[in-house]
Amino acid sequence: MASAKEDRKEGEVVELARRRGFLWPAFEIYGGAAGFYDYGPLGALLKRHIETEWRRFYGIGEGFYEIEATTIAPKDVFEASGHLKSFADLAVVCKSCKSFFRVDDELNINKKCPGCGGELVEAGELNLMFQTRIGVSKGESTERDQNKSEGYLRPETAQGIFINFQRLIRFNRDKLPLGIIQVGKAYRNEISPRKSLIRLREFTMAEAEVFVDPREKNRHPKFETVKDRVMKLVPGEGAEVEKSLEEAVSSGLIANEYLGYHVVKVGEFLERIGIPKDRLQFRQHRKDEMAHYARDCWDIEFLSDRYGWMEIVGVADRGDYDLSVHAAFSKADMSVRTEVEGDAAAEKVVPHVIEPSFGIDRIFYALLESSLYNEQVGKEKRKVLRFKSEIAPIKAAVFPLLNRDVLKGKAKEVVQILRDESVFAEYDGSGSIGRRYRRQDEIGTPYCITIDYETLEDGAVTIRERDTMKQVRVPVADIKGFIAEK
Ligand code: GLY
Repeated sequence: MASAKEDRKEGEVVELARRRGFLWPAFEIYGGAAGFYDYGPLGALLKRHIETEWRRFYGIGEGFYEIEATTIAPKDVFEASGHLKSFADLAVVCKSCKSFFRVDDELNINKKCPGCGGELVEAGELNLMFQTRIGVSKGESTERDQNKSEGYLRPETAQGIFINFQRLIRFNRDKLPLGIIQVGKAYRNEISPRKSLIRLREFTMAEAEVFVDPREKNRHPKFETVKDRVMKLVPGEGAEVEKSLEEAVSSGLIANEYLGYHVVKVGEFLERIGIPKDRLQFRQHRKDEMAHYARDCWDIEFLSDRYGWMEIVGVADRGDYDLSVHAAFSKADMSVRTEVEGDAAAEKVVPHVIEPSFGIDRIFYALLESSLYNEQVGKEKRKVLRFKSEIAPIKAAVFPLLNRDVLKGKAKEVVQILRDESVFAEYDGSGSIGRRYRRQDEIGTPYCITIDYETLEDGAVTIRERDTMKQVRVPVADIKGFIAEK
């Protein structure tokens, strides 16, 4: 695991990402600000492909509806949700340079300041939300007005779903279960953001809030389809075990079928986008690290070469916490009248919530790190990002073999043909063919297509596959079919 000192050095993955246009520190020309990154052209494409797969998985696969709530909310929302009181980290401050640090596993009160080596002393709990004002200040105002104008940037997308519950359940014809998803920015004023994309102050979350009748938590309709899945589980207390989901739920290690189903689904999604199963583990929160709203929580952790095990997704059983606190504060009725099988009478219940919560930036990092291979090819070395084709930012790069107008014109024509067929292709005419292959390998483009003089005669191109480096001749009209078949 990287120390705080090493952390200031850019690792191989972040260096490649910056050099090749995936992402870089924000506000560079003004000296930067810790915890903020901008996604460049390739990063924005890759991130969007991850989000698209996520929407396909939960939106289409699970039948969950997506909403888009605001990213700023008045104080009331976070007073009710408990974030104002409890969303805080314990901090220490350096007596000599006055820098603040979050107390975590790597840095505690016994250590020296990672910046200057000074003495660290406790600084208490610091709230992580960004505060703002809604509207202009009216000068003298009542406490009620001040409360109304005090706003916060959301620290999670979830609250936007909870506070709209009445409308959402009505939309669903008052039926449970109900799954709602949201993808968007969230903000946390981290005390000591470090580790590139791992601890950001502005980041993207993809969250599903699954509302379920509490009496049905052990009857997930699709449990059968996932119950045999074997996982590496690290319980909150005790040693790591390998268990099938069915065993984990029946032994009480995972609290209920709904929670278990969603833990397994997260693993399935991560593998689908290309994160290897052997770099994933499922770790239950200890009682002392559980969020204020959670009654059980499992982190899905990725084994990073640089940072060790790191959380990339959390799946929490939030019980009826959120709907109950919003009902109490707002006086809105957050209950639903439902019947369960075998019970004759319909009853009013406050639904429970199971929440898979994805940190998209961390997943982006995990995908980059686990896709990056350094390979020896003959006497040469190549770096290659072995992205799955669906995820790769660019699907095909088209090269003229030589710097001749007739070949350049044909190559640009082929790029347009592919774009017209919805294949994201780019033209690359700079440097030798070898250099162009190296560049495309480094950004994970699965196919390179070369136009030569023969193309002008027979209408065929050479396609070189990124992973095998095999080359085949394919007629222009069949390129899309060739790629799709692969
Ligand atoms: N909604 C999950 C989290 O805030 O971490």
